[in-house]
Amino acid sequence: MLTEDIKVSLLKDLDRIGQADAPELEALRVALLGKNGSITAVLKSLGGMAPDARKEAGAEVNQIKAMITEALTARKALLDEAALNARLAAERIDVTQPTRPDIAGAIHPISRTMEELAAIFGAMGFEIKEGPDIENDWNNFSALNIPAHHPARAMMDTFYLNAGAGSRPVLRTHTSPVQVRTMLAQEPPIRIIVPGRTFRADHDATHSPMFHQTEGLVIGKNITLGHLKGCLIDFLRAFFDAPDLPVRFRASYFPFTEPSMEVDIGWNRKTGEIGKGGDWLEILGSGMVHPNVLANCGIDPREYQGFAFGVGIERITMLKHGIADLRLFYESDVRWLRHYGFSALAPAMLHEGF
Ligand code: PHE
Repeated sequence: MLTEDIKVSLLKDLDRIGQADAPELEALRVALLGKNGSITAVLKSLGGMAPDARKEAGAEVNQIKAMITEALTARKALLDEAALNARLAAERIDVTQPTRPDIAGAIHPISRTMEELAAIFGAMGFEIKEGPDIENDWNNFSALNIPAHHPARAMMDTFYLNAGAGSRPVLRTHTSPVQVRTMLAQEPPIRIIVPGRTFRADHDATHSPMFHQTEGLVIGKNITLGHLKGCLIDFLRAFFDAPDLPVRFRASYFPFTEPSMEVDIGWNRKTGEIGKGGDWLEILGSGMVHPNVLANCGIDPREYQGFAFGVGIERITMLKHGIADLRLFYESDVRWLRHYGFSALAPAMLHEGF
């Protein structure tokens, strides 16, 4: 039989184990079960008892030892888990934290229109091409059937750069030189759009010396004017989100297309409403690629034909969003950008409509 005070003291230890922090718990373990621990001492003392008393006391002390061991293990597991949780909480990095809304940027309307063009023409199987802002005379003019001294050169208010050896670089006046670059670089079939910067010496509410265009070019064996019309009608109706948008093709002139057509959409001159009102608004230039252009670019015009078009990005953006003055696009006025900008988290996706 164990004495009452040994039992009371061991039960108290059991209680202390339940409250202990990690260092206390280790101290208790050593004090109870260590080499000189109190339970170890009791176990040692069994040897000196009479056999019957030893049996009884042995059973008791082993029972207490089991209880103590179990309590120590349970407390240790609890403390370990709490320590781990504390560490996880302290070392946590929330990678999902959103930017603060008041400092979130916005997608510029010009960029947004380019994204929408990419989505619309991408769905029609067009590839996106780019070309340099600084072009040579041949790509910008001659290859496009605009010979030297042709009045069309004067029409474009070209920025000429200093003449190099035998060449006179220009800031490209349109994205059409990328037609030339593409046809020289790859075999038909070709189906591309070319969004990018263009330059003309012109400045007022609807013209800027730097502006943006998107070129389109489709070359194949059986590409017809019907394809041109279908493609542009689909594009304009998708872009302006107006399934019944009236579209008119009007004979015009460009040196690099034959026949050439100006494309008009229906609108209301007074209210600016697109698709309603019975007035016509010129919106882009287009036509069947001139055989001279194909030949200049190494494509046999007896075998291939196709169509091209050029759209002013600022122009269609102003019309779509009711922006009256083109100069505002480039003023970097944050209030204007907030109002006309688009959320970066809601990208242009055709299937949702724009
Ligand atoms: N390059 C012409 C312009 O800038 C637009 C255009 C492109 C017209 C392609 C017809 C075909 O005015």
